[in-house]
Amino acid sequence: MTRPEDRRRQGMAGRGTGLGAGIIIASLCTPFVAAAASAPTSAPTSGEALPTLFTSSEAAQGRIVFEQHCAACHGDDLRGKIGPALIGPALGSARDHTTVSVMFSVIAFEMPAGDPASLTRQNYADVMAYILQRNGYPAGTHPLSYTTAEASKTPLISQQR
Ligand code: HEC
Repeated sequence: MTRPEDRRRQGMAGRGTGLGAGIIIASLCTPFVAAAASAPTSAPTSGEALPTLFTSSEAAQGRIVFEQHCAACHGDDLRGKIGPALIGPALGSARDHTTVSVMFSVIAFEMPAGDPASLTRQNYADVMAYILQRNGYPAGTHPLSYTTAEASKTPLISQQR
């Protein structure tokens, strides 16, 4: 299994090389990279069709997980407290948590800070679904699992301001 540190190194620098879906990823990421580089006025990718990665009931479960295990540090509104904001531009900034996979690794291996990897796999998938939903990703018919979250190369680009 790839360690989370390795995955994070694949962030901004390594993206787009050797990926089967390179064209889609590159086109989705272009505005994101431009914004991260030095164009703060660039709008997020409004208008791009976002994939459906989770179900609405899963996101509802994830909200409960978030309130119990994450909100104390990240805020009830996800806008950050002692932990960073998990909504809006902070999610799609120059920080290298650039795909669902990379961010999920941080959550599953390092969160909750102080008691990492202490939740169930289902709880981690659910809370990832909730964070995606709060950032404007639409619910669909297929649930996000721990395994699919770990593997998802979907770019993380918040639709929220
Ligand atoms: C005890 C406080 C605390 C709790 C509880 C906590 N976090 Fe964090 N979280 C942090 C801190 C502090 C950081 C920044 C760590 C760093 O940058 O190394 C962080 C970083 C993150 C990041 C990376 C964000 C970024 O932009 O770098 C994610 C994603 C995240 N937390 C999600 C969660 C989720 C989901 C939960 C609940 C399952 C959770 N956290 C629980 C304190 C907490």
